Amino acid sequence: MESANQTASVTEFILLGLSAHPRLEKTFFVLILSTYLVTLLDNGVLILVTILDSRLHKPMYFFLRNLSFLDICYTTSSVLLILDSFLTPRKTIPFSACAVQMFLSFAMGATERVLLGMMAFDRHMAICNPLRYPEVMSKAAYVPMAASSWAAGSTTVMMQTSLAMQLPFCGDNVINNFTCEILAVLKLACADSSINIISMVVANVIFLGIPVLFIFVSYVFIIATILKIPSAERRKKTFRTCSAHQTAAVIFYRIILFMYGKPKSKDPLGGRQTGPCRQAHLPLLWSGDPLLNPIIYSLRNKEAKAAVRSLVTQKRFTQ
Ligand SMILES: *[C@@H]1O[C@H](CO)[C@@H](O)[C@H](O)[C@H]1NC(C)=O
Repeated sequence: MESANQTASVTEFILLGLSAHPRLEKTFFVLILSTYLVTLLDNGVLILVTILDSRLHKPMYFFLRNLSFLDICYTTSSVLLILDSFLTPRKTIPFSACAVQMFLSFAMGATERVLLGMMAFDRHMAICNPLRYPEVMSKAAYVPMAASSWAAGSTTVMMQTSLAMQLPFCGDNVINNFTCEILAVLKLACADSSINIISMVVANVIFLGIPVLFIFVSYVFIIATILKIPSAERRKKTFRTCSAHQTAAVIFYRIILFMYGKPKSKDPLGGRQTGPCRQAHLPLLWSGDPLLNPIIYSLRNKEAKAAVRSLVTQKRFTQ
């Protein structure tokens, strides 16, 4: 995509969004807006009950609250731009705003992966090492664990984003997406972006591979421990305390693998004339993961359900 005006550098990008399919814009606007509102609502409720109900003052719910908070930040970091792109076809966005948006939504995604790994460790300790659990998972441990997820996610993504934004952008400034998603932006660079791709692959191995391996190994130990429990009733109960996390982790990683794990498609047309599904990466919001997290947890968890119920019925919270 070398162009003649090599020297003119790009100061703003154009987000293509769904402008090739104007008839779909209203439908998707309503769909995405309502998904977003429900996401805010159910994550908000989860944050509220885990703060207000003293029965939920445990490491697991601290992590869940953090996950909900993260999900809210995550969806917010891209949904406003997506909705705006439906209202303003071929929306222009300044270079710097694009960089900020890329950083925010990418960083939240990376943080979420690390946090899910930390949550697997928490469940692992609770089930395989119940006697040492209160000592190992003290407040002095779980608060820094969550904080380091945020730090690790933001640091690497800061590196990725600044590497990407240092590339020269000269001719084409039409982003084939709803947001400034990093792969879509890298396609427009008029220099070799293989360093960026390599560093993203390395980061993916670290941020996707290690947590996945960690979760996998944790669950091997957890299942082995559960199978040793003699009473069937207790076995089932123990299994239930970690199945919610398992489900959420599987859903999340499936989506990430789907988005970034597939090979880059060769696209001679620059991909601009193709249909909406080929045209853009499915924004994570559509996958419903931030929407589903609190539902997965609260529907499967008696403790959380009871807490929501007492919040709704305005019972006094016992200390
Ligand atoms: C999430 O964790 C960080 C770091 O431990 C903490 O500062 C923050 O308050 C937590 N957020 C919520 C909503 O609990």
